Amino acid sequence: MPSTASSAPERPRPWPRTCKPDNGVTLIEEARDGSDPGAPLRSGQNGAMWECDGFADLLPSSVEVVQVDGDCGVLQPAWPEEAVSVESAVLRRQVEFVTTRECARRALQRLGFSPGPIPVGTHREPVWPRDVVGSLTHGADLHAAAVALKPQYRAVGIDAEPNTGLPEGTLDLIGSTAERLALVSLESSWPAVAWDRLLFSAKEAIFKVWFPLTGHWLDYRECTLSIDPVTGTFTGRLLLDGESRSRFRISSIEGRWGISGNRLLTAVALPEQATQYRRSRVARAARASSTA
Ligand SMILES: CC(C)(COP(=O)(O)OP(=O)(O)OC[C@H]1O[C@@H](n2cnc3c(N)ncnc32)[C@H](O)[C@@H]1OP(=O)(O)O)[C@@H](O)C(=O)NCCC(=O)NCCS
Repeated sequence: MPSTASSAPERPRPWPRTCKPDNGVTLIEEARDGSDPGAPLRSGQNGAMWECDGFADLLPSSVEVVQVDGDCGVLQPAWPEEAVSVESAVLRRQVEFVTTRECARRALQRLGFSPGPIPVGTHREPVWPRDVVGSLTHGADLHAAAVALKPQYRAVGIDAEPNTGLPEGTLDLIGSTAERLALVSLESSWPAVAWDRLLFSAKEAIFKVWFPLTGHWLDYRECTLSIDPVTGTFTGRLLLDGESRSRFRISSIEGRWGISGNRLLTAVALPEQATQYRRSRVARAARASSTA
């Protein structure tokens, strides 16, 4: 039985850029230039900053990222805790599930964890080792995992989408009038980017940060997104009462985006200092009664 991934993290030796694990999968370890957060993106048209090589360009170097183009081929989940989640799934789903979790185990290993299962939580969220936050994505023929250590990071969220427009009608469901107007302006200046898809992707990356922090659903309309085409960043302003749903105060979540080939990538790494613990109601009540 493999050991679980819960031992105290110890910095491992650096991995080679490209490594071939026992199962024959070639995982591309993304290049790092040591800058933080992420490497500066290359300029696109009109001075916009959007070209990147992968998620590692969008995230701080203390967030470990492993991504693979294509997939692992047909493999069975290595752990029963994982297998139970996909045993009746179609082959394609099994392949994406295994490939993404292989990426995650690789990334966790770089944080010092030995291989272990990453089960599926009750709301489909990946269940990480206790001291870890992380996120998975599979889309646009890409599989990726990003993981980081608590408490340095509160949450990580990544999402990959094809750089193609959303199906008709979708934008009306996920974007406000103000967001849609902003996209019109972006589209006229930078038509090479599928801005509606980028809006969607950024909101999904935000959700992957929001949910593990709060345990609550977040609707697309409960977050207003603004995208900066020049800095390659985005900000999601949360329209709901985040305080009532979380141990943390969160009113906005910032992330970075880029284009890698024909894919749009969005990533959020929420550092500890971006969130504050809110005072518990019990503590507030106690303080109020002691001063009364
Ligand atoms: C969960 C969701 C974000 C996944 O995004 P997606 O583009 O469909 O798929 P991706 O490949 O990028 O990501 C899938 C991974 O997300 C992760 N995920 C699923 N539910 C999650 C949750 N509640 N919290 C965190 N991560 C979750 C899983 O790891 C999943 O992969 P797996 O099933 O193989 O383990 C999306 O399906 C969804 O339900 N969105 C609605 C909520 C939302 O985005 N609101 C916007 C708020 S502004």
